[in-house]
Amino acid sequence: MQPAKIAQRERLIVALDLPGTESAEAMIAQLGDSVAFYKIGYQLAYAGGLSLVAKLADRGKKVFIDLKLHDIGNTVARGVESIARSGATFLTVHAYPQTMKAAVEARAGSNLKILAVTVLTSYDDDDLHAAGYRLGVSDLVAARAQQAQVLGVDGLVCSAEEAASLRKIVGHQMYLVTPGIRPAGAATGDQKRIMTPARAIAAGADYLVVGRPVLEAADPKAVAEAIQAEIAQALD
Ligand code: C5P
Repeated sequence: MQPAKIAQRERLIVALDLPGTESAEAMIAQLGDSVAFYKIGYQLAYAGGLSLVAKLADRGKKVFIDLKLHDIGNTVARGVESIARSGATFLTVHAYPQTMKAAVEARAGSNLKILAVTVLTSYDDDDLHAAGYRLGVSDLVAARAQQAQVLGVDGLVCSAEEAASLRKIVGHQMYLVTPGIRPAGAATGDQKRIMTPARAIAAGADYLVVGRPVLEAADPKAVAEAIQAEIAQALD
């Protein structure tokens, strides 16, 4: 199945990595029309942030819940059903077959899309071996991407550097969602493998997740608008 056409302004996903709903609401108000898609991760979700999902949906915004679920299938399924009812658009799960299968089945009939995290980008081959894995990062990413596709997962979270090789594996039937995006001149922070928005789009990314370059800017709205313009130009 070919993914639905993506509205251009929804390709930028701003990560609301903020300590609470008050600061998140202030940032959302400040960003106004410049951002149409937000990501809520551990920090905000565990500080009451899931209450923002319905509010954002009511205002026509999309929400990506980045809680990277992984548990026994029944528990994953019940959690996914609750998230599907919240009006969220994307949810991450770890790319284990049982977990992905349960999540895909549980989101049936809703608008929720499941994204799989293949191998966390903080892991290298040594970390995988220490965790008991036989495969290195690139082989495990490829194997899990294939499993995700077979199981009907809607998309993958990957670094922009992985996007081109993953496109070859999964074709255009899955969304590729890439963090580690830095507009030219922005501070890299702790991200090691970074790309500009234009290069990430050229590498095959569908959605770009950007946190600190927007959140920590003197003028977040201006930075978001500049990224939107760069995405639009890259797609031209
Ligand atoms: O602030 P920054 O732009 O680096 O934020 C990137 C966002 O994407 C954060 O919310 C981070 O948790 C998330 N992320 C990431 N690398 C991954 C997966 C998710 O940076 N591999």
